[in-house]
Amino acid sequence: MLFSLVVLGVRAAQRRHLEDRILSTWPETAALDPELVRFAGSLAAPALASHCAGCHGGDLHGDPTHGAPDLIDGEWLYGEGRVADIEQTISHGIRSGDHRSRDLADMPGFVLQNPYRRYRIASLKPSEIRDLAAFILQMNGRLPADSAAAARGQALYGSALCYDCHTASAQGDPAIGAPSLRRHAWLYGAGAEQISDVIAYGRSGICPSWSGRLPPATIRAIAIYLHVRSGAS
Ligand code: HEC
Ligand code: HEC
Repeated sequence: MLFSLVVLGVRAAQRRHLEDRILSTWPETAALDPELVRFAGSLAAPALASHCAGCHGGDLHGDPTHGAPDLIDGEWLYGEGRVADIEQTISHGIRSGDHRSRDLADMPGFVLQNPYRRYRIASLKPSEIRDLAAFILQMNGRLPADSAAAARGQALYGSALCYDCHTASAQGDPAIGAPSLRRHAWLYGAGAEQISDVIAYGRSGICPSWSGRLPPATIRAIAIYLHVRSGAS
């Protein structure tokens, strides 16, 4: 009895010590320390299962019905996959209402009369949206049924200002969370219909902010765990 109480006490002290270390170590350095990475995994796994899997999927490979991205494929909407980038997103969320959340751009809805709430942007016709979707499919190595449509879509990519957020090469802009349009895991699905629907009606996906809802050591641990699993180290 006394022996098991002593064991429990030692374990609690070890855990507190590791929590202190995970927070006081520079995030990118912590991700290189095998003991802290192991500890991060033990804190992160249950938190991910109870707070994140509902949107990001039990395997963390994303869920197009929520527009929630794959968190371990090494493709990032925001930042470059450093522990600090991921921690910032988890702490303050995306379009979450937290005043430090990531919220610099949205996907306009191009069939709407006023496509964009932040600045004036011209509407597109439904046929133009189909052409853009054909171009995006072609860019991803999927042969469009109608190659003339893809060529028209390519011209529209410039004239409709898609490049303004997604960049001229369509690789996306991680400073504003504009995804690459050469993705292997699409936020909202890879089909022509799904891509057309995003261009037509726009999207503003929301990730909640977790600062104040999860302990700081758990948030840091999840960031380290996702960084390591996504192979960005
Ligand atoms: C209510 C649904 C929901 C929940 C719950 C949720 N997320 Fe998200 N998360 C999203 C959506 C949607 C996005 C994409 C937002 C966008 O389109 O920019 C996202 C984006 C992210 C990103 C950005 C990934 C990148 O590529 O830059 C990270 C990191 C993230 N979530 C982590 C988490 C973690 C960790 C949890 C649990 C503690 C969590 N999320 C819980 C919906 C959710
Ligand atoms: C003002 C910035 C902005 C402009 C202009 C813009 N986009 Fe986007 N786009 C975004 C953002 C931000 C997202 C991510 C939406 C989200 O996080 O919910 C996105 C998402 C998308 C997606 C979904 C990607 C996925 O993984 O499912 C497609 C497709 C897309 N944009 C195509 C286009 C096309 C085509 C144009 C031009 C007609 C365009 N976008 C113009 C900001 C922009």
